[in-house]
Amino acid sequence: MTCRIAVFGTGYLGATHAACMAELGHEVLGVDVDPAKLSKLHAGEVPFYEPGLEEVLKRNIENGRLRFSSSYEEAAQFADVHFIGVGTPQKKGEFAADLTYVDAVIETLAPLLTTPAVIFGKSTVPVGTAERLGRRARQLAPAGDQVEVAWNPEFLREGFAVKDTLHPDRLVLGVDQGRPGRAEEVARSVYSQLLDEGIPFLVTDLATSELVKTAANAFLATKISFINAMAEVCEAAGADVTVLADAIGHDVRIGRRFLNAGIGFGGGCLPKDIRAFMARAGEIGADEALTFLREVDNINMRRRTRMVELVREVVGGSLIGSRIAVLGAAFKPDSDDVRDSPALNIAGQIQLQGASVSVFDPKAIENSRRIFPTLNYASSVNEACSGADAVLVLTEWDQFKQLKPSDLDSIVRNTIIIDGRNCLDRDLWVDAGWEFTAVGVASERRASTLP
Ligand code: UGA
Repeated sequence: MTCRIAVFGTGYLGATHAACMAELGHEVLGVDVDPAKLSKLHAGEVPFYEPGLEEVLKRNIENGRLRFSSSYEEAAQFADVHFIGVGTPQKKGEFAADLTYVDAVIETLAPLLTTPAVIFGKSTVPVGTAERLGRRARQLAPAGDQVEVAWNPEFLREGFAVKDTLHPDRLVLGVDQGRPGRAEEVARSVYSQLLDEGIPFLVTDLATSELVKTAANAFLATKISFINAMAEVCEAAGADVTVLADAIGHDVRIGRRFLNAGIGFGGGCLPKDIRAFMARAGEIGADEALTFLREVDNINMRRRTRMVELVREVVGGSLIGSRIAVLGAAFKPDSDDVRDSPALNIAGQIQLQGASVSVFDPKAIENSRRIFPTLNYASSVNEACSGADAVLVLTEWDQFKQLKPSDLDSIVRNTIIIDGRNCLDRDLWVDAGWEFTAVGVASERRASTLP
């Protein structure tokens, strides 16, 4: 059955959701308050880098199933299924999530709802938000109790957004169990194609659905910090964290995925989500349960300072006056997102400590320049590495993984490379005479002297 859907927010989450819902055959209106984003989307351009999204967007604009607007009135008249896909960033100077944008959708949309409607929240929110928004929506809407708020958390990864939306591991729906309504039935029609494929569909209460999302991201963050803690121990012990990860990862109870040690996690989700989770646990009297997440956060942030120290060591003890090439600025490959990017953060710290830093990234230069205008940005690997005292690989783009020593031999000043993501072939570089350092692996320079 074709549904008429409005999606509020056209960022990574909302734009992908809107385009993918149209791809499933629904009629979709994407709504945003940002005219710059809307004019790009109207023209079939994705305002950020996400492989495969532009084709889906263009195809569905052309076939007339997908449109964009800034008008909530139009959305309320057009659709009876609404998805909230706006951001919930970290509040300035606090751990908690800033719910301004989510609240604004309800405050603006609900008074316009004169007929029955289901509002599905997709944004990551503190537990208890959905219930509060449901009360508020019923209070504001002329249709009153015929307006339902349900929660349908999103688990997509940037870089795989289309695939994760059209072929997710699971669908989770939180419904207000005290007020049985149509939300489950509507969700089943929206996602009928996915359900026919046998994708697991878990229906639960509102609080559990909100917690599923934060728990999933907390677990992923913990897994990364666990292996990065092991990296610290490996460095001290003269061991190799990559082999360790491979070996423990063979145990299916542990699993190898998300055990890549390096400069740690960043992005618009994991860092702020674990902090918001701790803040919310404190508010509901469960803070002790999540104190370990503070350590997860600390281990993660320590990766960045550790990398700065490593660079200082390899250039001879002081960064002042050295030339450092940084390959990678995005928080992960196949993305132009630099929100809380470890790579860019490290580049900034090195520069602040007196080095001249030249950064190259295949997609994230424009975004980086906006938040870190004082760094030097190069337009190619060669330009970034020209005259460098050390080359750092901080985001594992394929282009960097495929680099060969002979590509850089005659360009750099010193043949020193640091692999911040354990993504390069050590032997290749060492055999070519380069000094090669990776995180979580003892190097010759840091030869172990265990007591
Ligand atoms: C993350 C989750 O993986 C998604 O399931 C979730 O939907 C999303 O947040 C969200 O809440 O919206 P994403 O931020 O796109 O997705 O990125 P990830 O692939 O999770 O990577 C996060 C960070 O961890 C990156 O900086 C990456 O480099 C780092 N990472 C990942 C590691 O350092 N080691 C690993 O083994 C894996």
